[in-house]
Amino acid sequence: MNIKNKTVWITGASSGIGKALATEFSQQGAKVILSARNEQKLLEVKASCLNPDKVKILRLDLTDFDTFKLKVNEALGLFDGIDILVNNGGISQRSLTVETQLSVDQQIFDVNYFGTIALTKALLPHFMTKKSGQFVVISSILGKIGTPLRTAYAGSKHALHGFFDSLRAEVFNDNIAVTIICPGYVNTNVSKNALTADGSKYNIDDQGNANGMPPNIFAKKAIKYITKQKQEVVIAGFKETAAIYLKRFYPKLLANIIRKVNVT
Ligand SMILES: NC(=O)c1ccc[n+]([C@@H]2O[C@H](COP(=O)([O-])OP(=O)(O)OC[C@H]3O[C@@H](n4cnc5c(N)ncnc54)[C@H](OP(=O)(O)O)[C@@H]3O)[C@@H](O)[C@H]2O)c1
Repeated sequence: MNIKNKTVWITGASSGIGKALATEFSQQGAKVILSARNEQKLLEVKASCLNPDKVKILRLDLTDFDTFKLKVNEALGLFDGIDILVNNGGISQRSLTVETQLSVDQQIFDVNYFGTIALTKALLPHFMTKKSGQFVVISSILGKIGTPLRTAYAGSKHALHGFFDSLRAEVFNDNIAVTIICPGYVNTNVSKNALTADGSKYNIDDQGNANGMPPNIFAKKAIKYITKQKQEVVIAGFKETAAIYLKRFYPKLLANIIRKVNVT
């Protein structure tokens, strides 16, 4: 698939991975719609794109599910429909289960899972009518394994796999593709923005993220897989990728390792 002149709608486009994807899609000639809550940051991302005239901003809060039908209609009118929705917006977690307020688990699920599936469901009729389209989901290594301090986050990402694997089977005959991407550590603000037990921001740039893959490198790799309409891919370093294979073939060994690893 050639990305040139395709219309790509990206959530979580104000920062990190979403911002890098927007810049890279624009560089490759796509028309891009940027969504997130922070409009000022979206304007800065737009200005940094190679073709700002082919970039539009659509402010969206992933927890405002009731607005999605309207937002989809607005998005469809910005260019000439939508070809690819990149479900990227999300929040992480840094807290022990025993201390975490249920409202925090719910907030993480509202953004990562319900926001993502609600937006997908609002756009789905458009893809079904035109018999084409692609849903991209930015999951995580934590969509495949679990580690301490991430119960809600890992739960929300695992849930995305269940939803989108099922959806892929349902819409195959409508010529709609589903691509799930599982990043390892990427150098973004994800840990700073992560929620702690009481819902306040963690505000620390974890070493794993600080030493993670540069977002622009991640974006280039991700777009390569998106254009090939891959079903599921892992974009991560050796250790994180190995963990997924251990989980599949030696789950007990991985469990032993995970409980001893000093996860921050
Ligand atoms: N960085 C990593 O190491 C890593 C690893 C695995 C998976 N991921 C996943 O990658 C995705 C992007 O994260 P990132 O690393 O780029 O982190 P980030 O820099 O913190 O960016 C998160 C993005 O999500 C948006 N967002 C958060 N809450 C939102 C809400 N209620 N409504 C709409 N947008 C919201 C933020 O925009 P506003 O605040 O402007 O709304 C921001 O654009 C996430 O799904 C994350 O789980 C990241």
